[in-house]
Amino acid sequence: MHNDIAQILVSEQEIKEICVKLGKQLTKDYQNKNPLLVGLLKGCMPFMADLSRQIDLKFEMAYMSVSSYHGGIASSGDVKIKMDLDISIKGRDVLIVEDIVDTANTIVTIIELFKHRGAASVKMVTLLDKPDGRLREYQPEYVGREIPKAFVVGYGLDYNELYRNLPYVGVLKPEIYNQK
Ligand code: PRP
Ligand code: MN
Ligand code: MG
Repeated sequence: MHNDIAQILVSEQEIKEICVKLGKQLTKDYQNKNPLLVGLLKGCMPFMADLSRQIDLKFEMAYMSVSSYHGGIASSGDVKIKMDLDISIKGRDVLIVEDIVDTANTIVTIIELFKHRGAASVKMVTLLDKPDGRLREYQPEYVGREIPKAFVVGYGLDYNELYRNLPYVGVLKPEIYNQK
């Protein structure tokens, strides 16, 4: 375990099992659709890679870079699109792939945008859900694991752009973000 991590919350093994389970469910639910997976960078990266390989269907993948934390531990509430999609989502069954839903500022903003752009359906799959963090009402359709209100990093999740490469999700030691 990395020295800056207080506790592992979701192990590498558990993440694997979550991807298999969600992959099976999505394979069933999107059978007769023309799904488009949209990953929200940068956090979605490892989860999108692992989950997509467990979905046994033909589908496209696209990415958008969206940020509201700007490296820190609290949502700024200002959701910035840093890189937009390179394809039209009009009439598509969009499945947004996220690492975490916390305040829901990000996902609610993006869903509104996608509906405005004419998507046929917009649903989301998230590895982690932190329901106690909500500032906006929102319930994701597909959730890997619910987690308590702690600042977590790893498997795509960052603090100041670091720790995204950890193979598990862990609680960051408070002294790491309190030292400045
Ligand atoms: C994080 C995370 C989600 C979002 C969730 O992204 O990856 O996209 O915040 O938080 P919310 O529900 O409170 O909006 P971040 O803004 O840190 O950008 P990143 O993915 O590039 O790290
Ligand atoms: Mn993100
Ligand atoms: Mg971040």
